[in-house]
Amino acid sequence: MTNAQRKVPGAEDSQAMVPGEFTLSRDDFRRISSMIHAESGIFLPESKAALVYARLAKRLRTLRLQAFKDYCALVEAPEGEGERQEMLAALTTNVTRFYREPHHFEHLKTRVLPKLIQAAQRGGKMRFWSAACSTGQEPYSIALTILSLWPEAAKHDVRILATDIDPNVIATGRAGVYSESLVSPVPEEQRRRFFETVNVDGKPHWRAGEAMQKLVAFRQLNLIESWPMRGTFDAIFCRNVVIYFDEPTQQRIWENFLPRIEPGGALYIGHSERVTGPAASLVASDGISTYRKLGADHK
Ligand SMILES: C[S@@+](CC[C@H](N)C(=O)[O-])C[C@H]1O[C@@H](n2cnc3c(N)ncnc32)[C@H](O)[C@@H]1O
Repeated sequence: MTNAQRKVPGAEDSQAMVPGEFTLSRDDFRRISSMIHAESGIFLPESKAALVYARLAKRLRTLRLQAFKDYCALVEAPEGEGERQEMLAALTTNVTRFYREPHHFEHLKTRVLPKLIQAAQRGGKMRFWSAACSTGQEPYSIALTILSLWPEAAKHDVRILATDIDPNVIATGRAGVYSESLVSPVPEEQRRRFFETVNVDGKPHWRAGEAMQKLVAFRQLNLIESWPMRGTFDAIFCRNVVIYFDEPTQQRIWENFLPRIEPGGALYIGHSERVTGPAASLVASDGISTYRKLGADHK
């Protein structure tokens, strides 16, 4: 956007929205929120001004900038690509944990996997997608659910695609190293079988073992851009991400998932999310925040 196209701020637009060390004006906030929306689909209403301030103030200090308007000029410039990534990483919420929303993994284990495993043992394939996987706990929980039923799974045609917009969380997921407290939701028996213990800075940590690493492939992918992968999935986990998008973006994402789910395949979404728009008539509810694609008997 050129300076001429941007609305000239009035007195109200240039006043600080949040008290503090740096001035974050309404105009600065709009510049930041429109960039974030265009890059990621994340919608930041003015009620998030304090959060934007808190998360970006650190960047201003690191870059020795005096005001948010200087930060805006930096991220809007063509050479600001690197900082735009930093801004996106700072403003996305990466909260996740192993076996978050445990009913999904129970559904996967009891209602989805038994038939898929039988088919895969006869040479078939199994495909899962953790879309917006954050630091990896979600795709590894899928892997653990599969391995606890079928320890040999990694020797067969079984894959879990794990994607996120943020390259930092992808790197953490790929490394697969978690502290004691982060792995605490994983049952002791699964921890011992499928993780290795490692030392990080003199403290014991748990690293996803070979079978888990073989099953999960991490890739950077922006859900609001085009998706390169072909083929369909037996289940898609897209949890606690579309909540940050506006309604038309949410509907478009649900619609894009449907052709990528096998008939009868599962779609798991976050506890405060809902499939809306044209996709809603193509799925049936199958439990708490769980859907099945219509069109065939459940596999
Ligand atoms: C709250 S975490 C959810 C993690 C996991 N699905 C769960 O429920 O525990 C939201 C994740 O969505 C990612 N995200 C935000 N916008 C995205 C986009 N446009 N495309 C892909 N991932 C996005 C963030 O980087 C963050 O890791």
